[in-house]
This record gives sequence, C-alpha cells and structure tokens, in this order.
Amino acid sequence: MKKHNYSAGPCILPQEVFEKSAQAILDFNNSGLSILEISHRSMDFVAVMEEARALVLELLGLEGKGYQALFLQGGASLEFLMVPYNLMKNNGKASYLDTGTWASAAIKEAKFFGETIVVASSKSENYSFIPKDYTIPVDADYFHCTSNNTIFGTQMKSFPETNVPMVCDMSSDIFSRTLDFSKFDLIYAGAQKNMGPAGTTLVVVKEEILGKTNRHIPSMLDYQQHIAKESMYNTPAVFAIYSSLLTLKWLKNLGGISAIEKINEAKANLLYEEIDRNPLFKGTAVKEDRSIMNATFLLNDETHKEQFDLLWKEAGISGLNGHRSVGGYRASMYNALPIESVQVLVDVMKNLENRI
Ligand SMILES: Cc1ncc(COP(=O)(O)O)c(C=O)c1O
Repeated sequence: MKKHNYSAGPCILPQEVFEKSAQAILDFNNSGLSILEISHRSMDFVAVMEEARALVLELLGLEGKGYQALFLQGGASLEFLMVPYNLMKNNGKASYLDTGTWASAAIKEAKFFGETIVVASSKSENYSFIPKDYTIPVDADYFHCTSNNTIFGTQMKSFPETNVPMVCDMSSDIFSRTLDFSKFDLIYAGAQKNMGPAGTTLVVVKEEILGKTNRHIPSMLDYQQHIAKESMYNTPAVFAIYSSLLTLKWLKNLGGISAIEKINEAKANLLYEEIDRNPLFKGTAVKEDRSIMNATFLLNDETHKEQFDLLWKEAGISGLNGHRSVGGYRASMYNALPIESVQVLVDVMKNLENRI
C-alpha cells in the first residue's frame, strides 16, 4: 500500500512522475535506451535540459527578464559557498538573516569569504519565528534569506525592500506559492522537495549581478561558466533533471503555482486547525510565521507518544517524526502530498483525543 509520505525531503513526488520516470529507466522516448545510459549530449537529453530550464522561468514568471536557470550539483549546501564566491567582492561584505539551521550553515560559509553581517536572528527562541525589524546595510554586496525553514516550520510571508541584490534559499518552498520572483536576484533550491529526486540543484540567477567580484572563481563554482555552457559544463544529473522536468510539467498542467498554492493553503489550514483545536497538541512556530510546507507540533503530554505513534503508523503514515532540534512531529506537506493524506493525519489526531 502506498504510504502517506510526510518526509521532509527527499519526499513525495506526483505518482505520474514515479510512473513516467520508471518507464524512462526502461525505455526513454522509445529510443531503445534507458535514461540512465544515454549521453547527456544526445539530442533527446539536450531537449530535456532546454525544456526544463525554460519551464522553470515560465512557472516563476521570469521569462525575458534577464534570468538564467541552471541545474547544478552539490545540493543547496554547495550554493552556501557558491553565492559568496560569485557575489561577495574582495574586501566586500554580505548580509544574512538567520532563521534556522540552514540559514546559519549558509552564514558559516560566507564568513570564509569576508565580512558577514547577521542582520537579525531568532536563534535564542529556537528559531520559532521570523525576525522582521532589521536593516540591511546599503553597502552590502547582497542580502541572503531562507524563505522556508524546513526544520523549524517557519516561512517568510514577506520580503524586505532593499536595493542590494536579494538571494534566497527556497529549497523547501519553491513552486509552492505565488511570489513576485523578480524581487530576487538569485534563487536556489535543492531539487528533492518540490521538484524532483535528489541529485540536482536549481539556481535561477539574474545575469547582470554576476562578474563583479574581482575574485578568481574556480570553473565548477562559477555561475558564468555554467551559463556559458548551458548548464552542461560537466555531466549533469541526467535522471534527476528528467524527473524534475516531469514534475514541472505536472505542475504546469495543474494550473501552475497559483493553482498549487490554493491546494497547499487548504492542506495547511486543515492541519493547523486541528493542531489548534485538539487539546492534546500544540504548534511550535508562532502563528503568523507558520509554514504551509512543514508544520511542526508537539504533544502536550509526552505520555501519549507511544499511542499516537502507533496510530499514525497503523494509518499508513510515514516520515512524521520531528527533527531532533525541535522534537515532536513535523508534517511536510509538499506540492505532491494529496489533501486526502492530511485528512488521514487529522483523523488520527481526533482518534487519539477520543481514546484519552
Ligand atoms: C532550506 C534548506 N536549505 C538547504 C538545505 C540543504 O540542502 P542539500 O541537502 O541539498 O544540500 C535543506 C535541506 O533540507 C533545506 O531544507
């Protein structure tokens, strides 16, 4: 039986993506070859790469606005250092908003390159909220933020107005909600949440911000090199990019980001209403900053843990345990998770209440 998969990532993808990916492993485009054995230089795969890069910009509303989409490797974690490598000037400075584990990992890497100003942090409150009152230095080379904090279940609902280039780690909420993406100069995201299997990282960058650092950038870490080679500087993650294209097409057929946003809001409302109503549970993030992708919550009385864990596992739910730095539970409701799965979880929570 297919599980209700609440995993934080890698995570659930649309069923049709699993099926079409499986088919392509056996025979890609009726070529008599598997997607796993074709050359990345073959016409069929070059077409996949071109379509995927174009579809990313189309879905984000960034076509014809000076942006390039790249499918790189090394995960979002490699972007933590590629961003300062490519954007922080020699003797320059960067500014960061510290909203969680991943934001602080990005800050750690930036510090190797130069002055790194943390404009605000919610660390002292175990990252349970998004800081809002802060000033971005006007002479910073860029400002970096994390739109969704996968571990702590918080999400930025608005973004600062600033004249410095804005960089955003959207690993865990890309393609999930409508935003004015043209406010951002560089967006990156590991594929393994809303886009595809692990193995490729999406980078969307406004070309005009590049080439200004006076740094020597090693070729594999240089966005300009990847742009010049149309995301094929070296052998790309062929299979991960193909499956990502399938997911992007699924999203387009569904009606794009505005359509999935409505579904995601309905799922999040359903679960948060139960967390707030049910006396056995409490949410960990402050309400106004709650993520519609990752809902983090605790049992008020830990003695019910064994019973609750048994009930959700019996209901076919998987991946609900919280990250160790928050404890309790984390329900990751990425784009492909159907609302029926959320209803199953809500029913289990009600069931626990009825038994106690
Ligand atoms: C917001 C965010 N940034 C970065 C990362 C790290 O991504 P990767 O494992 O692709 O390096 C994650 C992983 O979950 C994440 O959720």
